[in-house]
Amino acid sequence: PSRARTAYVCSECGADHGKWQGQCGECGAWNTLSEFVIEPAAAGKAGPASRRGGWAGKLDAPRVTALKDVRHGEDARVSTGIGELDRVLGGGLVEGAVVLVGGDPGIGKSTLLLQAVARMAATLPSLYVTGEESLAQVAGRAARLDLPLDGLQALAETGIETILEHAAAARPRLIVADSVQTLWTESLTAAPGSVSQVRESAARLVRYAKETGTAVFLVGHVTKEGGIAGPRVLEHMVDAVLYFEGESGSRFRVLRAFKNRFGAVNELGVFAMGDKGLKEVPNPSAIFLSGGSTPQPGSCVMVTREGTRPLLVEVQALVDASPLSNPRRVAVGLEQNRLAMLLAVLHRHGGIVVGDQDVFVNVVGGIRVQETAADLPVLLAVLSSLHDRPLPEKTVAFGEVGLSGEIRPVPNGEERLREAATHGFRRAIVPKANAPKSGAFKGLEVIAVERLSEALEHTS
Ligand code: TYD
Ligand code: MG
Repeated sequence: PSRARTAYVCSECGADHGKWQGQCGECGAWNTLSEFVIEPAAAGKAGPASRRGGWAGKLDAPRVTALKDVRHGEDARVSTGIGELDRVLGGGLVEGAVVLVGGDPGIGKSTLLLQAVARMAATLPSLYVTGEESLAQVAGRAARLDLPLDGLQALAETGIETILEHAAAARPRLIVADSVQTLWTESLTAAPGSVSQVRESAARLVRYAKETGTAVFLVGHVTKEGGIAGPRVLEHMVDAVLYFEGESGSRFRVLRAFKNRFGAVNELGVFAMGDKGLKEVPNPSAIFLSGGSTPQPGSCVMVTREGTRPLLVEVQALVDASPLSNPRRVAVGLEQNRLAMLLAVLHRHGGIVVGDQDVFVNVVGGIRVQETAADLPVLLAVLSSLHDRPLPEKTVAFGEVGLSGEIRPVPNGEERLREAATHGFRRAIVPKANAPKSGAFKGLEVIAVERLSEALEHTS
């Protein structure tokens, strides 16, 4: 009775529909359904379907076990040979883990993974599968980067069946698939590159990884909307999702864990792209400052603490009279909705009206700040631009702004202040609860505020 059935899966939410329709019934997105062939589980293979069969018939083996009797170990980790990558992975690559590395085309994903896999191949038999470049191009890049190539096999192929056949024969312990968008499977009629092909091919690789304990890096290009091209469900299928970010024109790149089953998220790895590939930047603290010596209106430096390191970044704002009846609020590197909320707080609790102004904010260096500590710096930058008046020289700020205009503390206040002092900042506008209890930092005047209105008094 079991034969392949066709399903239509939404690329936004992953919902499964029996027939094609223009709008997803689950999440309401338009034109996101695409065709999948769902194969029945192979006979004899343990899978949800055969297990269900087991319930109907007899249970062939006990499946319930006392959890305390289950053998486990610390996840075995292998260093990638790149400290910043290890850091983002949570201390190295876990055996059998599937890691999706996303980022804009040209950001350096292939470079990073080639550098990593070349080093790892010395101890871990590895297979680099390229669907975008020829083997000669890959070899040429490896030679230019002076990479060791012992133990590294390569395959220029996009058909997942062929790839897995070669993998089964060569038995690598690590596979890099560059990129997931080029993969396709014979079992679907959809065109290569379509959402269903990408999802199904990735699913095959994930299954292979789990069955054999092979670690897999999947490269995924990011769409203009910022998601990894292909279904969101790709992110659910893998163990870790790393995003590679940076600004065109800047040589710095930031690798960020967006999801990680084996480590902390929001850990940052910082690299610089040079003529010998990507170099680690182990002390990235001040590289994202724009570097101008005289303070400019609309600029506020903040101390963010993404991951486990403090980082000085510059928030810029431009506030300008809007010709539109519905003025624009644009946030780059920050959350859009949070900006709208902060402007409402600024109005209600700071008495400052920007309702007729376009407001643009941007984090310098192409990095993204996700923590609420950016609230206060954003509002200080907005105010500074509105009044066309720079903040006093060598000022930093951080702090969450609450809906009732209160300035709330953020984690690791002292560490942030120390970082600011180390880099020669002289004034810090911070939440009262983050002010140092005892003593101070040399040369750094700490201005502790409890309300937004107090903070605004210190803007000039
Ligand atoms: P690449 O790794 O091919 O990007 P992706 O795989 O994310 O699309 O990186 C390509 C860019 O990096 C390209 O613009 C050239 C630059 N680059 C260097 O500047 N130095 C180098 O040593 C290498 C290998 C690439
Ligand atoms: Mg590439």
